[in-house]
Amino acid sequence: MQTLGTIAEVRRKIAAWRADGMRVALVPTMGNLHAGHLKLFSEAHKQADKLVASVFVNPLQFGIGEDFSSYPRTLAADQAKLKAAACDLLFAPGEEEMYPSGRDGLGFVEVPGLSDILCGAHRTGHFRGVTTVVAKLFNIVQPDVAVFGEKDYQQLLLIRRMVRDLDMPVGIIGISTMREVDGLAMSSRNGYLSEQERIVAKEIFAGLQIVATQLRQGAQDYSALELAASQRLVQFGFIVDYLTVRRAVDLAVPQAGEKRLVVLVAARLGNTRLIDNVLIDMD
Ligand code: PAJ
Repeated sequence: MQTLGTIAEVRRKIAAWRADGMRVALVPTMGNLHAGHLKLFSEAHKQADKLVASVFVNPLQFGIGEDFSSYPRTLAADQAKLKAAACDLLFAPGEEEMYPSGRDGLGFVEVPGLSDILCGAHRTGHFRGVTTVVAKLFNIVQPDVAVFGEKDYQQLLLIRRMVRDLDMPVGIIGISTMREVDGLAMSSRNGYLSEQERIVAKEIFAGLQIVATQLRQGAQDYSALELAASQRLVQFGFIVDYLTVRRAVDLAVPQAGEKRLVVLVAARLGNTRLIDNVLIDMD
């Protein structure tokens, strides 16, 4: 597996593959790879002849006071995992390569509305940073398909919407969330948790499962379910940013009787912000 740091080199390499008629898949990441990321790579393999991964801790999607400087950067370990996953090319640019003119006056891509709710309401500018960097990665790699995790469900919907609105010729594939044995969604941020917090962290998924079971049994008072599940997390010591039942297709507040739902949560345990969700299809 080759690691390249410049856009020009990546373009040259991929142009040669394309000239040979190959299909290219892209898996964008911020590195510190875990088994959840690896699941995306194995799906990407099924979809294309060549697999490109990117590792870039994107400053644009971190707010002031967030964990940009402490975010784990583990390039050597990531390279070993990517090699084992038979990745063909790793694009690992520096900040100057991605944002040579700095951040002031930088052109951006934004999906209004969907960017402003839930995580967007709590992390101003976060999703603009995500859609901008993903649009840039799509322009650099020009993949046939790109693979994203359902763990970041709002992000996945935003990227699908961006691709549709701007006619980007990229197929977007969503992959179900990979979990630890106790149910905690795998995340690079789990490494921030203390031993005690790590034990409590499983209550996020446990709480989502309780709500999911009630919904599957026909409960339709979404506000009551949300309140009870939030209070339960607060009792375990979480600060809950949101815990909400939404329509799976667009994150709108659902009418009673909606068949395809998603329960989403963002909650903080100490200094660590965790997100998770479960999809419910009652058709
Ligand atoms: P990162 O958090 O590194 O995640 C990279 C991809 O892995 C995302 O599509 C995410 O949804 C997926 N992923 C993370 N944990 C997962 C899990 N437990 N199971 C399945 N998939 C999982 O998301 C980002 O980076 C960035 O916002 C990015 C899209 C790269 C733009 O900077």
